[in-house]
Amino acid sequence: MTKNKNNQAIWNTRVKKKSSSLYKKVGSSIDLDKRLYKEDIMGSIVHVEMLFRQKIISFKIKNKIIYGLNKIEKEILKNKFEFHKEYEDIHINIEKRLFEIIGEDAGYVHTARSRNDQVVTDLKIWIKSSTKKINNNIDKLIKSILKIAEKNIETIMPGFTHLKNAQAVSFGHYLMAYVEMFIRDKRRFENGMTSLNENPLGVSALSGTSFNIDRNYTTKKLGFKKPTNNSIDTVSDRDFVLDFLYSSSVCSMHLSRIAEELIIWNSDGFNLVSLSDKVVTGSSIMPQKKNPDLLEYLRGKTGSSYGNLFSMLTILKGIPISYFKDLQDDKQIIFNTFDTLINCLKILDEVMNNLSSNKKEMTKLAGMGYLTATDLADYLVKNHSMTFRNAYQKTALIVNLAEKNKKKLEELDITELQKIEPKLTKDVIKVFNLKNSIKSKKSYGGTSFDNIKKMILKYKKQI
Ligand code: ARG
Repeated sequence: MTKNKNNQAIWNTRVKKKSSSLYKKVGSSIDLDKRLYKEDIMGSIVHVEMLFRQKIISFKIKNKIIYGLNKIEKEILKNKFEFHKEYEDIHINIEKRLFEIIGEDAGYVHTARSRNDQVVTDLKIWIKSSTKKINNNIDKLIKSILKIAEKNIETIMPGFTHLKNAQAVSFGHYLMAYVEMFIRDKRRFENGMTSLNENPLGVSALSGTSFNIDRNYTTKKLGFKKPTNNSIDTVSDRDFVLDFLYSSSVCSMHLSRIAEELIIWNSDGFNLVSLSDKVVTGSSIMPQKKNPDLLEYLRGKTGSSYGNLFSMLTILKGIPISYFKDLQDDKQIIFNTFDTLINCLKILDEVMNNLSSNKKEMTKLAGMGYLTATDLADYLVKNHSMTFRNAYQKTALIVNLAEKNKKKLEELDITELQKIEPKLTKDVIKVFNLKNSIKSKKSYGGTSFDNIKKMILKYKKQI
């Protein structure tokens, strides 16, 4: 048997010349995939345990390999492990070090396994635990939003469509809309678990193996639910990466929407919310400025999240099935998306804890733009047996009149109103009250204060 020379490539008997220095530079992924060391070591330990149970390797060799792998893990944890670029990736770096520690018996670790199934196994384990970290951060953010929502159940503001004042709503209701989005984001991440729970280990390079391995054992030990069904598909498949990137992109898009919303509301034109000094920055020239930079950061970062999703889609579209080097780029994409998203979730959480509503300004703005016009139309339908379309026309005439006389709806005289609709009585005035309008929206999911209270309570118990 040829001895493993540590300073040489594993394939040096076949590929006789050293690869070009340029290839070493671009072909190595160790700087990135060293993040997978824990998953890789865990996978190798379970793999050799299975090889022993199946009588493929001896008890002694299994123990030697596990000893070496545990030692490597400690070295990496203590920053005492030397990563080598020429060994390409985390898998070969660990295998090479194993040879140094336990000698030639390290050569058994790669029996009935290939880096092709090894890397997908590592990645799936990593994404599974990262998904949990993301969802924990989403939970934290939801809790912070619930806290502000609770303080603002009765804070009246204009609800917008087309950014034009539309109908009166509670600020708490607006915030709870984002809670719904983040709850869907969590579900979307959880949905990815079905594919992530299929164990790739044991499909080897692409065709399976002639060794009598037990994939159910490694499945159980590594926390998967079932082994994957087709060996070729398993080493080619990065759909689970796409699912992760898509879920991250949608979550990122929600972060960007709320960021944009808050930037608008924090602008001097709107002035509906204030940010404490902790989450704003100043200007280098304009001494008076307080800028919502953190929110802008969130909005900007959505771009890299989308970019990563599109990079991965593009990488996959061109390659036939089974393994190709193109796939190595998935790590950079996944890690960047994850790091960015975690950062952004933490940032929004911090912003939320440093945000307050400018209640006076909100009510003032809600007093503009005839927010209760729809309430008047509804009132006419209910009290004067009109079709909604007729009531809508009458109300439009009343709004025109108010606009012409530069008055708010509630400032119109009953006699003026009766010129347009003779059946109207003084009773109609209560319809123009913003609080009454909000209270009346009792339909399930509507903005009534009672509805919001119930929703906040429901989610406080749930999360
Ligand atoms: N570092 C490689 C990757 O991430 C591992 C798989 C390598 N397999 C191979 N046949 N070159 O994709």
